[in-house]
Amino acid sequence: MRLFVKPAVLGLAAALLAGTTLAQDMPNPAIKARQSVMALRGFELGILGAMAKGDVPYDAEVAAKAAGNLVLLSQLDLSAMWPEGTDNSAASGTRALPDIWSNFDDVAAKAGILNEAALELQAAAGTDLESMKAAMGNLGAACTACHKAYRAPAS
Ligand code: HEC
Repeated sequence: MRLFVKPAVLGLAAALLAGTTLAQDMPNPAIKARQSVMALRGFELGILGAMAKGDVPYDAEVAAKAAGNLVLLSQLDLSAMWPEGTDNSAASGTRALPDIWSNFDDVAAKAGILNEAALELQAAAGTDLESMKAAMGNLGAACTACHKAYRAPAS
């Protein structure tokens, strides 16, 4: 048995070392965090979008849950996720434009508009399909307004 322990321990040490090297090549965790929040927003909106398009039948309960999550996701304080030096001219793996850092007030205002739209959507999503669709317009516009101003186009 003892013979097996040593190589295992060595293997673990090697794996940890490899992990350290890897960590240096990893993108800034703040970039990862903000992109993860965005990915969650996209996921929840996708649930509603599939119903709006008729790809899946409208389900009031499922729609209300997705809209509720969009409210929560629009209320998160993301301020720690935009440290200096993480715009797309200074860091790789991000589409965040440098303009964000010179227009924080406007970015915050756009985030506020998203929150309002999400609250309206939450009130409408569980009512019926037409109400949900109507409220989705404002929400989508709130996402797009910020992306147009502050996110670089996909390369
Ligand atoms: C206040 C500005 C703002 C609002 C509002 C906003 N986004 Fe974003 N979003 C960004 C920025 C900036 C990025 C680029 C982040 C990066 O690459 O570091 C982004 C990136 C994304 C991405 C790509 C994430 C990835 O994995 O790279 C998705 C998906 C996304 N947003 C979805 C949404 C959805 C859906 C909404 C609305 C419900 C929304 N966003 C609202 C600013 C915003």
